[in-house]
Amino acid sequence: MRKKFVAGNWKMNKTISESVALAADVAKRLSDAMPSCDVALAPTFLAIEPLAEVLRNTPIKLAAQNCHFENDGAFTGEVSARMLKHAGCHYVILGHSERRQYFGETDELINKKVKKALAEGLEVILCVGETLEQRENDETKKVIVSQVSHCTADLSIDDMKRITIAYEPVWAIGTGQTATPDQAEEVHRLIRFFIASLHTDELANDITIQYGGSVKASNAKELFAMPNIDGGLIGGASLKADEFVQIVHSFS
Ligand code: PGA
Repeated sequence: MRKKFVAGNWKMNKTISESVALAADVAKRLSDAMPSCDVALAPTFLAIEPLAEVLRNTPIKLAAQNCHFENDGAFTGEVSARMLKHAGCHYVILGHSERRQYFGETDELINKKVKKALAEGLEVILCVGETLEQRENDETKKVIVSQVSHCTADLSIDDMKRITIAYEPVWAIGTGQTATPDQAEEVHRLIRFFIASLHTDELANDITIQYGGSVKASNAKELFAMPNIDGGLIGGASLKADEFVQIVHSFS
């Protein structure tokens, strides 16, 4: 069964106390009206442990925004998948375009992180997406297929069952410019066909594919109504509890 899934990516926003207050607000609102989908919040590393406490006994799961591909060692400034799992994380977001753009992450590096995260018992939200230039050069299909195949290289079907793919066109992230439901649906369908060709029809049918890029309460319903869009990875709009909870309730 394909799961519906909405996750909030808080990026580099909110202090620990602000994160605790926001998570408590989201949890309270969702306890008033239970979500019909899976929900996760991805705060900064610092807020993961305090949020594990706040979100205990709620349906909301914790996600991290990144991890290293080794469990420990001389990697100054890094945090490992094992540490995240022990701190209470269920998911880790990998391959986000901001990591690719500002921190030079390649598909090969992301693949190493994906394998380590899965080995340590985390589920992965794997982000893929084309830039505006690539879209205008008609390279969207080529870029997406290449990112999906390289980032998931060597994974078994059982590994793939613990991956959610987030299609996030780079030109739509934080720009206020959302892909239209038809534009997003076209790429989601492509990803599903490609997974079927790499693995099985069953896996392709069951894998959750989120859309991300300027999703708001005002456009979530029409995006989530598309047959191959199973939810969203929400940036800016996840920083406001009321807006995020409206998005969570946008499945018809
Ligand atoms: P946005 O970010 O919703 O602010 O566009 C989405 C993301 O980067 O995951």
